[in-house]
Amino acid sequence: MNNLKHYLSQVEEIFNHEVFLAEPRELYEPIDYTLRLGGKRIRPTLMLAANAMFGGSADCVRDAALGIETFHNFTLLHDDLMDRSPLRRGKPTVYTKWGDNTAILSGDTMYALAWRYFLRQPTPHLQQILNCFNETAIEVCEGQQKDMNFETLGLAKVNLDAYLDMIRQKTAVLLACALKIGALYAGAPKKEVDNLWNFGIHLGLAFQMQDDLLDGYGDTAVFGKKTGQDIRDNKISFLPIMALQLGDETRKNELLNLFATKDNMDEEEKVRRVMDIYNTVDLHSTVEKNINDEFQTAKKIFDSIDVPEDNKTPLRELMETLDGRKK
Ligand code: IPE
Ligand code: IPE
Ligand code: MG
Ligand code: MG
Ligand code: MG
Repeated sequence: MNNLKHYLSQVEEIFNHEVFLAEPRELYEPIDYTLRLGGKRIRPTLMLAANAMFGGSADCVRDAALGIETFHNFTLLHDDLMDRSPLRRGKPTVYTKWGDNTAILSGDTMYALAWRYFLRQPTPHLQQILNCFNETAIEVCEGQQKDMNFETLGLAKVNLDAYLDMIRQKTAVLLACALKIGALYAGAPKKEVDNLWNFGIHLGLAFQMQDDLLDGYGDTAVFGKKTGQDIRDNKISFLPIMALQLGDETRKNELLNLFATKDNMDEEEKVRRVMDIYNTVDLHSTVEKNINDEFQTAKKIFDSIDVPEDNKTPLRELMETLDGRKK
């Protein structure tokens, strides 16, 4: 069936059939909690849709789909601890609910579980698939480290190219990897696997820029994460980078100072002042335009993939739902 809804429900079915609870309870309960909370399930959906686009069926990728989503959720457990984020998917994060040690160990277990799922999925391309998964995992960690390095480096020292390189690694490669692995399971030709990878990279860049935008302008009740967290953390996201390009000298300096503050200012006052600067330079519309450009680049690459148009419908629909997303 060639629509997105079909693949989203297949992903839900895959997760509903899997048991995540085991002993010791203290280790597995947070894993079950996280994986049952759902989220958008973008990565397994990308994998299933890419696989079907080249003639595969859900059975060829169900365990790999579990694997990619379990890996993604592992990164969230550790990321929330690193970012000190209190809320995800509208619920308390694992480290706030069970403590730092649990977030670390349950997270580690999820990384190993991801490997278990991949190894469970038979394919003649296993070596190439596991290699892609592992190299991607390393890049995600490199991206996460750069993200943290930028906090200490400060806004003045991070340019747009460095930011794009960082989000390519922390976010985009995993979307690209999901698509690539889906296509590999279906035995897609190399040229199209490469096209899908590049499509995933640009989709992923747009996706992280949107995440940055929603951190400033989203509605916590819909977004499911506490907004303003990037500002509290001095994160060099797309927002301050663009605001720096748009503001006059006074605003620029004010922004640089605000992003250099540590504990000497009330956090909520800081969020308000940064958002005031964003609003005076009309940041929202500029950022939206940049996100839209990135989506267009992704679409062009996707258009060039040589499969019957009908096979492309689910991924086109997925792009549409992501464009202008609020969560
Ligand atoms: C959150 O990913 C982390 C980022 C890369 C921005 P998602 O926005 O896909 O999170 P869920 O899985 O839908 O909650
Ligand atoms: C997350 O980036 C990227 C990874 C988890 C690898 P963010 O830190 O912006 O993600 P959120 O906003 O917490 O979901
Ligand atoms: Mg985070
Ligand atoms: Mg982070
Ligand atoms: Mg974010």
